[in-house]
Amino acid sequence: MAGCHFLIWLISIGFYCSMVGGLGVNWGTLATHPLPPKVVVQLLKDNGINKVKLFDANANMMSALAGSGIEVMIAIPNNQLAAMNDYDTAKKWVDKNVTRYHFDGGVKITYVAVGNEPFLKSYNGSFLNVTFPALENIQNALNEAGFGDTIKATVPLNADVYDSPASNAVPSAGRFRSDIHGAMTQMVQFFNQTGAPFTVNIYPFLSLYGNDNFPLDFAFFDGTSQPVIDNGHTYTNVFDANFDTLVSALKDVGLGNLPIIVGEVGWPTDGDKNAKASYAQRFYNGLLKRLAANQGTPLRPNQYLEVHLFGLLDEDAKSVAPGSFERHWGIFRYDGQPKFPVDLSGQGANKMLVGAKNVEYLPQKWCVFNPDAKDLSKLADNINFACTFSDCTSLGSGSTCSNLDANGTASYAFNMYFQAQNQDDTSCYFQGLAKGTTQDPSTADCNFTIQIGTSASTSSIPPLVTVFVSLLLAFFLL
Ligand SMILES: *[C@@H]1O[C@H](CO)[C@@H](O)[C@H](O)[C@H]1NC(C)=O
Ligand SMILES: *[C@@H]1O[C@H](CO)[C@@H](O)[C@H](O)[C@H]1NC(C)=O
Ligand SMILES: *[C@@H]1O[C@H](CO)[C@@H](O)[C@H](O)[C@H]1NC(C)=O
Ligand SMILES: *[C@@H]1O[C@H](CO)[C@@H](O)[C@H](O)[C@H]1NC(C)=O
Ligand SMILES: *[C@@H]1O[C@H](CO)[C@@H](O)[C@H](O)[C@H]1NC(C)=O
Ligand SMILES: *[C@@H]1O[C@H](CO)[C@@H](O)[C@H](O)[C@H]1NC(C)=O
Repeated sequence: MAGCHFLIWLISIGFYCSMVGGLGVNWGTLATHPLPPKVVVQLLKDNGINKVKLFDANANMMSALAGSGIEVMIAIPNNQLAAMNDYDTAKKWVDKNVTRYHFDGGVKITYVAVGNEPFLKSYNGSFLNVTFPALENIQNALNEAGFGDTIKATVPLNADVYDSPASNAVPSAGRFRSDIHGAMTQMVQFFNQTGAPFTVNIYPFLSLYGNDNFPLDFAFFDGTSQPVIDNGHTYTNVFDANFDTLVSALKDVGLGNLPIIVGEVGWPTDGDKNAKASYAQRFYNGLLKRLAANQGTPLRPNQYLEVHLFGLLDEDAKSVAPGSFERHWGIFRYDGQPKFPVDLSGQGANKMLVGAKNVEYLPQKWCVFNPDAKDLSKLADNINFACTFSDCTSLGSGSTCSNLDANGTASYAFNMYFQAQNQDDTSCYFQGLAKGTTQDPSTADCNFTIQIGTSASTSSIPPLVTVFVSLLLAFFLL
């Protein structure tokens, strides 16, 4: 029962099981109405999640995390990498975003992510020359501030930084991509010197997405009729095969034992025919059991693996350039409510996670298509407008709201816009094509959501004066 704590001395009958040892989550905030940081931190605590990966070092989120004991990976976005090529700027970043939180009851920072997938193929090498100097400067600044042993600078990389040749598509043939081979070698040698791990994002869903020939069961962990046999190793899932391709690429440059952590892995629940809650549940069920069992992969068997799920919450303002599924990666919905049963401790006892508490919603009001509308000639234009400024990804083919009739589709689009505009009265007109209602238009498959109240999404930082008064109080109490 490793990982389970029995609190019988505290409460008569009751126990809680903590998560798979290394399990963390990615907390992204590309949402029109992000949940207040305090609500999110409570959500993490209520579900026993004790590691979190951020995409910056947002002060409100850091304040909410302070004193929680949760281990945090903070990050420098790609657009700041060039600036970090200047050592003084890097030092200021560390001072402001690391040292500042280093106090008793502060934030337990364990990693700094320097960039996010900076060598992604679609970036065309934009960050190729600025990533390494930024990495070096940040680690040196961390060392100078005295954090060298406890905080490591790493670079989350997409699995597209390595591959194996089409002619020999097996894990053992894994090599770093030829166009960045030099940069990758330099980077991993640096990790080896500093003791930082290689951080990789692996997405079995993307293997399946847009590739109808990909064997569905190879994306999951329940066995497959088409395993890959490589040097006597049998691969039954793409996660292992992908991970070991990286191990081989590292071996190729003489660092086959470099520690690896998984920065992102997960399964989306909407926006594509393969993005659905039942598949997400199947994926996490398989993944979490393996992690709990420290099963490892064929090239690194019986090993503990640190993994950060992607992601915690749906993000309705994420770019959909990679696909409509991008806004639906959360194990929780946009409002912190669980989507499907899962057992984060990896014991397979799947049940609904604890939902976010104290979430303030806008009133129970929706905006729908007005069936009395006379002139329908502008309907398409208005739907298009609504969807340009809100999230209509659930309407796409294979998605949860794709079965609505034409009027329902218009209603869905109008409502998403209305909610994105905080239910502002003027946002439910659409040239007379729309009207407000207090009757929930949701169907069995398709949720017409109510957005989160804006008052709740404002800063949760206590005003300075409160901090000052409590400091004063603390002083007198001592
Ligand atoms: C600290 O991080 C925040 C959030 O990512 C960023 O906006 C800010 O510029 C950083 N501070 C410094 C001094 O670089
Ligand atoms: C990369 O190149 C492609 C093709 O030339 C272009 O469409 C895309 O906008 C470029 N992306 C970036 C980030 O520069
Ligand atoms: C990166 O450096 C190489 C070699 O100096 C140069 O050829 C290339 O244009 C640079 N790339 C960018 C995006 O600055
Ligand atoms: C770096 O790699 C070498 C060769 O694999 C290994 O012996 C050494 O322990 C590594 N250094 C660290 C800090 O892990
Ligand atoms: C959709 O709206 C039109 C125009 O208002 C109406 O004539 C039609 O009956 C509606 N269709 C359905 C299925 O509700
Ligand atoms: C719609 O939202 C409700 C309330 O959170 C939830 O219980 C239900 O599962 C959702 N349905 C779909 C299809 O997402």
